[in-house]
Amino acid sequence: MKKPENVCFVLALLLASAAAVLAADGSWLQRVPAIERHLVDPYDNQPQAIAAGKFLFSEHCAQCHGSDAHGRHGHPDLRSERVARATDGELAWLLRNGSLAKGMPSWSTLPEPERWQIIAFLRSLPRDAEPVRVAGH
Ligand code: HEC
Repeated sequence: MKKPENVCFVLALLLASAAAVLAADGSWLQRVPAIERHLVDPYDNQPQAIAAGKFLFSEHCAQCHGSDAHGRHGHPDLRSERVARATDGELAWLLRNGSLAKGMPSWSTLPEPERWQIIAFLRSLPRDAEPVRVAGH
């Protein structure tokens, strides 16, 4: 029979490797096929679409990413440099496919226009360097 110390050591190792695998490090970006990377959000900068996207975000995304999109409970900040630099197509790919192993669900059940509206909303938010909260939250 194993000594309890050994069991603890093995558990600690497992937890450490799980944490490393689960870190939100942007590695999903490498999985986006080149052809999708260049897609452009048809709703970019359109106030009505941004308003719709804000509503959809509060319904589906805020529970993990916070109503101000700054992230919560270890879920990534969506007003980061990384998200700002991601192309529309990359964000669209992530919303459709998710990053299931790391806990980001797939949103393929939402109609495609709704996913673009959410992206238009994310684009409308000030970045981290400009700390302005989303009105109403
Ligand atoms: C159940 C919790 C959860 C919900 C709900 C959720 N996400 Fe996520 N999201 C995550 C996790 C965990 C990651 C990190 C995934 C990774 O790094 O591979 C993530 C990553 C992201 C990223 C990439 C961030 C980065 O820095 O790499 C974007 C963009 C994103 N989510 C947008 C959304 C949007 C938009 C919605 C709503 C339609 C949403 N998420 C709903 C958990 C969630």
